[in-house]
Amino acid sequence: MKLQPPPHPARAAPLQPSTGSPRVSDQPDQQQTKKPFLYVVVCACGIARDVGKLITAAQEANWDVGVVATPQGLGFIDAEAVEAQTGYPIRSAWRLPGDPRPLPPADAIAVAPATFNTINKWAAGISDTLALGILCEAYGMGIPIAAFPYVNAAQAAHPAYARSLDVLHEMGVLIGSYEPHEPKADGGAERYRWEEALELLTPELSAAD
Ligand SMILES: Cc1cc2nc3c(=O)[nH]c(=O)nc-3n(C[C@H](O)[C@H](O)[C@H](O)COP(=O)(O)O)c2cc1C
Repeated sequence: MKLQPPPHPARAAPLQPSTGSPRVSDQPDQQQTKKPFLYVVVCACGIARDVGKLITAAQEANWDVGVVATPQGLGFIDAEAVEAQTGYPIRSAWRLPGDPRPLPPADAIAVAPATFNTINKWAAGISDTLALGILCEAYGMGIPIAAFPYVNAAQAAHPAYARSLDVLHEMGVLIGSYEPHEPKADGGAERYRWEEALELLTPELSAAD
């Protein structure tokens, strides 16, 4: 079931990142041909190996893309291939003070795949990975976010999971339509719709213009 979010409290007048260049929608006219920038937050699921499908779809839809992987998620992707595809380094750890920001500011964020672990920590406001730090702050900055959990039914049965999705929904996070697969099965990779990220986030971007 796809949840419909309430209006985002910060969407009407989004805050700007404290440093870095302004978001695309606030650039002067002559710069508005710049492509919107999508962060893809990748968590530690087997299906993460296919994240290139989302990157390709987003680039074909005229987005620029940067990947932020959780530390565990890094082990599930072909980092070299992802960096070659996006043209940006994968972010996973915090930079040192004074180091340049490796990615432009995000215009939208897709969390795909989203683990049980990251969904629950994000909803609880835990920020112990760079990915979670970005997600926790993005809410207050009014950046559109969509999450695409890939969990099994045993994980989804934990009471914390439904509560976390409710919290994220209340925050205005769009939630993907994937229904949990049976535990210990091969998963439902063929049912996981990477392109749903663009279907959910593109209208959000237009609304912010
Ligand atoms: C091979 C393998 C596959 C996994 N698949 C999933 C999965 O599909 N969904 C999930 O929520 N966790 C899955 N996990 C567990 C997560 O990797 C684990 O909870 C991890 O701590 C998540 O870290 P992250 O949320 O920071 O990415 C898997 C673990 C392994 C070793």
